[in-house]
Amino acid sequence: MPAEIGVGLLGLGTVGRGVYRILEQNAALIAARAGTAVRVRRILVRDPHKPRGLDLPEGMLTTRVEDVVADPRVQVVVEVMGGVRPALDYVLEALRRGKSVVTANKDMVAEHGRELFAAAERYGCDLFFEASVAGGIPIIRTLKASLAANRIYQIMGIVNGTTNYILTRMSREGVSFQAALTEAQRLGYAEADPAADVEGHDAARKLVILASIAFNSRIPLEQVYVEGIARIAPEDIRYARELGYVIKLLALGKETPEGIEVRVHPVLLPSRHPLAAVHDVFNAVFVRGDAVGETMFYGRGAGELPTASAVVADVIDAARDILRGVPGMIGCTCFENKPVKPMPLVESRYYIRLLVDDRPGVLAAIARGFGDHRVSLASVIQKNTIGELAEIVLVTHRVAEGALRAAMAVVEGLTVVKQVANVIRVEGEEE
Ligand code: NAP
Ligand code: HSE
Repeated sequence: MPAEIGVGLLGLGTVGRGVYRILEQNAALIAARAGTAVRVRRILVRDPHKPRGLDLPEGMLTTRVEDVVADPRVQVVVEVMGGVRPALDYVLEALRRGKSVVTANKDMVAEHGRELFAAAERYGCDLFFEASVAGGIPIIRTLKASLAANRIYQIMGIVNGTTNYILTRMSREGVSFQAALTEAQRLGYAEADPAADVEGHDAARKLVILASIAFNSRIPLEQVYVEGIARIAPEDIRYARELGYVIKLLALGKETPEGIEVRVHPVLLPSRHPLAAVHDVFNAVFVRGDAVGETMFYGRGAGELPTASAVVADVIDAARDILRGVPGMIGCTCFENKPVKPMPLVESRYYIRLLVDDRPGVLAAIARGFGDHRVSLASVIQKNTIGELAEIVLVTHRVAEGALRAAMAVVEGLTVVKQVANVIRVEGEEE
């Protein structure tokens, strides 16, 4: 049994620094839990002269990846550098050399999961990625192990902190999307280029990872329907509230007879739903299993120590497996091959906000446009008059997306309809 497990870090930014700090700060506790001391041996960075705010031993930093992955004192390689390349090449090289790997990299896992798991299996190593989804929330191991008795049929997640912060500010203070985004950037929540957050792509990558595990079938990223929050206006948030809903960006996965639904988009969520109470930068994942029923996991989805908490837990598990001589036991769980359900077949209710001519017969013409495509309206409310125009909000009954789109094409073409201001799905109500 090795007297200690050596860790090699690829990256010493926000998360890497947190990993180093936790391994130092909780060294005795971690050694007792892992069954051996766990110590960082070498760290790859781009710029070895950058101030790190850490008391690092001489010679700890390197700019050569071989110094980390080929170091015989390193048994676990922790990839916290981000991006797909060269991270993927470095991780594959570490696995090829028989090192277990822990990563926080959702982009790499979502896009190259199959290749990574095949390599881990081939070389008999652990490949853990708890921090890649929802930062500090223990959701990957929960789905793989704690809920393994269940057929999971639905996951709903708030898995992007930046967009949840923006929607919370818009809802609480009535500010515009742009003002809330600027605030999120000032506070360091959103990236300088926040496109992946606000357009939903960050959440889509996390959904691919969650859904592949929950439904035991690999979900291709390009088959996830993605829509961001840039079109959400303060009016939508206000009208949603009047109707008893909040607006959230959700990552949704659901197993149905026609295939797996995988989609990321804003939704109107009933204000009594547990996810409606998840505010600011917090994340939460709501899971329905056939035995356990409804469960929800809540916490910080990003940040130095919350994310490092998940990474270090993976390192401890990898260390235990190395000590027991059984790394590589919890491998890929995608043992089925299920289709993704095409969006036109996905059913939902819809909130629709229109600007229309304010004169008699307009509502009847619109109702006919929907009715001709068998889209049934649950409510139609005139909210506001803006000059010659009326703002109306419609909520439909459940309908397939294909039928809704066909009806919307007709309604949009009516001369009395001046603008389709927004169309937002309504989710989270019992079917
Ligand atoms: P970061 O602050 O940008 O740090 C990246 C680190 O990797 C830096 O130390 C950088 O070196 C190093 N690095 C990057 N490219 C390199 C290269 N080609 N060669 C050598 N070193 C390289 O990133 P982070 O926020 O810690 O995120 C790391 C990973 O964790 C990402 O995959 C991210 O998606 C994931 N994650 C982050 C969070 C979070 O809250 N930040 C939450 C969940 C998951 P220098 O310091 O010398 O530039
Ligand atoms: N940009 C991400 C977020 C960071 O806002 O949730 C964590 O992956």
